[in-house]
Amino acid sequence: RLADIGVLGLGTMGANLALNMAEKGFVVAGSNRTAEKAYALRDDNGAVGQNIVPTDSIEQFVATLKTPRLIVFMVPAGPIVDEEMQRIMPLLSPGDIMIDAGNADFNDTVRRSKAIADTPFHFVGMGVSGGELGARHGPSIMVGGEEQVYSLLSKILEPISAKYQGTPCVAWLGPDGAGHFVKTIHNGIEYADMQMIAEIYGILRDGLGLSAGEMSDIFADWNSRGLSSYLIEITAVNLAEKDPDSGKPLVDVIADEAGQKGTGRWSAIEAQKLGVGATTIEAAVSARGISSRRKERAATAALYGSVAGVRGDFHPDKDGLKELEQALETAKIIAYAQGFAVLSAASEERGWNLPLGEIARIWRAGCIIRSQFLDDITRAYEASGPAANLLHAPQFVERVKAGETALRRVVAKAALAGIPMPALAAALSYFDDYRRARGTTNLTQAQRDLFGAHTFHRLDQEGVFHHQWPAV
Ligand code: 6PG
Repeated sequence: RLADIGVLGLGTMGANLALNMAEKGFVVAGSNRTAEKAYALRDDNGAVGQNIVPTDSIEQFVATLKTPRLIVFMVPAGPIVDEEMQRIMPLLSPGDIMIDAGNADFNDTVRRSKAIADTPFHFVGMGVSGGELGARHGPSIMVGGEEQVYSLLSKILEPISAKYQGTPCVAWLGPDGAGHFVKTIHNGIEYADMQMIAEIYGILRDGLGLSAGEMSDIFADWNSRGLSSYLIEITAVNLAEKDPDSGKPLVDVIADEAGQKGTGRWSAIEAQKLGVGATTIEAAVSARGISSRRKERAATAALYGSVAGVRGDFHPDKDGLKELEQALETAKIIAYAQGFAVLSAASEERGWNLPLGEIARIWRAGCIIRSQFLDDITRAYEASGPAANLLHAPQFVERVKAGETALRRVVAKAALAGIPMPALAAALSYFDDYRRARGTTNLTQAQRDLFGAHTFHRLDQEGVFHHQWPAV
């Protein structure tokens, strides 16, 4: 039996993606370094497993696929992708398509796309979001590569993708690295979102002294309104869970050390390269780094004292909680505006012509940052076209104006209480900086010109100027 598509690498994501395809009626060839996994995938999954064709060798895998072959690589990002491509390419026929569905660095995807252009094969860099469950039941899928190749893939990708009100959350977004770049920025926004939620959790815990159960109820309540999103929903679930051993809330026994695999950091790096201030993403990446240095933090706490106990001018009444909710919502708008500004700048620089409204559309379901709010972003782009920054879209102007005071008050009160707010404060500072028509880098320019003759522009005359400053 010839397979419609092959999945190479049957780890959690690969296996779930293969089962998703199999369930939608596609025959899926499976290949894994340890072939037993491929057989188990067929044998342990009832009727769905019957659409899986396990293979014992890469040769058999390739021979099992209909041509042109569609081969999804679900292997760890990095050199393994190159190694697997090298291993399989001698076996392929002209027109076959290799699809890297891992969390690749888009720079690698651009490089691989260039290299493949000299061969008779095609290469697609495809971002897949939604974790294990998304892969199994409907992820959000961000595709980059040759547009005509996408038409061969969409017949499989559309049925397996998440649906938002019936519309598949998958799209071709642009050539070469576009799909992986968009996935990277998705993850950067995910980092900012998660960090801002953690900061508000810090206020609920350390500013208000609430229990995990009480906080769970608050997040569940917030999930019914403007903040409604997968990440807020899971936060309520995380906080409600008890540790079976100690009976304590599970979050209270989890070490405060965040891991990271790279996509958040890449987002911050790419934003820096493009000269776009993605300060909430940067703050979130740094906060994870600082969190992982737990021993160092303990040593610093011993030197300076750690702000302990319930503190700050926070109140657990209706108004106090409303203020926190509004602050989070406002900071979230700013964080997303930053993420989309990075997408917009990259699109311009690389000539990708990224469809920003479409990107928000395919993030509305299936992916980790899915939320009601993304629908608002899609509508903002549909209504006003590609704005330089979402903060210019009329819908968001109103919302930011309404929430600005809450964000300002929460950040200020947290600062006075010594509760860290790296991402929320970054959102506020960015906002204040971005809406300040007359900034302060006129002084920076003066300094640069004094010590390095770097020149400056004037507000009142065209041209480039250098001033003979007094010798210092
Ligand atoms: C997704 C997730 C997924 C994964 C990240 C997490 O969209 O499904 O973003 O890609 O959870 O890799 O990254 P960190 O391990 O760096 O937090």
